[in-house]
Amino acid sequence: MEKVNVAVVGYGGMGKYHADRIQKFSDFNLSGIYDIKEERCEVARENGANVYDSFEAVLADEKVELIVCATYNDCHKDIAIRAMKAGKNVISEKPVTLCSEDLSEIIKASEETGMLFTVHQNRRWDNDYRTIKNLIEKNELGPVFSIDSRVYGSRGIPGDWRQEKVHGGGMVFDWGVHLLDQILMMNEGKTIESVYATVTNITNDEVDDGFRALIKFRNGPECVVEVLTNNFIEAPRWYVCGENGTAIISDWDLNGKIVKIKDWEKLDAVPIQAGAGITKTMAPRTDETIKEFPLEKIEVNWEDYYSNIYDCLRNGAKPLITLEQQVRLMKLMEAIFESAEKNEVISFE
Ligand SMILES: NC(=O)c1ccc[n+]([C@@H]2O[C@H](COP(=O)([O-])OP(=O)(O)OC[C@H]3O[C@@H](n4cnc5c(N)ncnc54)[C@H](O)[C@@H]3O)[C@@H](O)[C@H]2O)c1
Repeated sequence: MEKVNVAVVGYGGMGKYHADRIQKFSDFNLSGIYDIKEERCEVARENGANVYDSFEAVLADEKVELIVCATYNDCHKDIAIRAMKAGKNVISEKPVTLCSEDLSEIIKASEETGMLFTVHQNRRWDNDYRTIKNLIEKNELGPVFSIDSRVYGSRGIPGDWRQEKVHGGGMVFDWGVHLLDQILMMNEGKTIESVYATVTNITNDEVDDGFRALIKFRNGPECVVEVLTNNFIEAPRWYVCGENGTAIISDWDLNGKIVKIKDWEKLDAVPIQAGAGITKTMAPRTDETIKEFPLEKIEVNWEDYYSNIYDCLRNGAKPLITLEQQVRLMKLMEAIFESAEKNEVISFE
């Protein structure tokens, strides 16, 4: 079947990532790139890519069937709507846009034009996330009552536009959008009861340089999502508690383990010295009552994202990243901002 001709708009870090990979896929062809910065266009030329003179020139190129939008977050909406009105399908980088009203306009344009619009939620293909999702789906830990998902950086907010509100900067939109999407996907079908969040402004006053969110699903689990950027010691990437076991993934290399209870009834504990007191409650379990297991590491291939796009365009498949999911994700991020601003628990669904 015919290859899909793609233009990448915004050739910064992520635009180049897309362009480099598109050139390697047998089902796609990179028609060219467009960036408002001449220096980025120059880099693209040096890399052998065709460079369009303007966004209008991209839209006017009849060969182009798909536009990948990898610009600052505030430009996604206009680029996507103009592209769809010009008869192009669109992959937008995350966050899809800055608020749910804007997202409604994008969805309307997609419905009116019949063009595909989807979002690059690539962290659904993270091995660590899939490993945790798999063990929950297999009920390895019994009923799960809490999931903690954390990423910590130590350099504040990177770059320039990510520090500015006008461009949709801040960590909720940058990393939160991934971690929250993962939490929604691993709890698909469950209702969120409430959201409470705080944001940090340690290195930047204009936008959040980190946040903590507590998301309570009806009948569990309770999820903590934390993105912080002024932390010089890592915390575990995942910490998941079920009634029959606990799982941890410490880092991106998937170091971690599962510990399951063998004999709940054997509650004997030798008191331990804990600070200025002694405790049996917090003493570790004795070895014969628990068993440690290695993680079943799930390998995934991010290229499946593009295979799905190809299937959507050539074989009428449904996009894996749906607009309904993106609306819910955007509303969750809005609830996080609202909760942090009002210092209130937000009833969600
Ligand atoms: N999915 C992921 O894993 C991931 C990772 C990093 C970034 N991103 C997303 O990708 C997008 C770009 O981030 P980045 O890190 O590449 O930023 P970047 O600053 O490296 O690149 C952005 C580029 O867009 C260009 N640009 C801005 N407005 C434009 C416009 N109207 N038309 C054409 N070009 C324009 C800029 O000149 C710049 O070269 C953001 O939405 C970001 O959230 C996603």
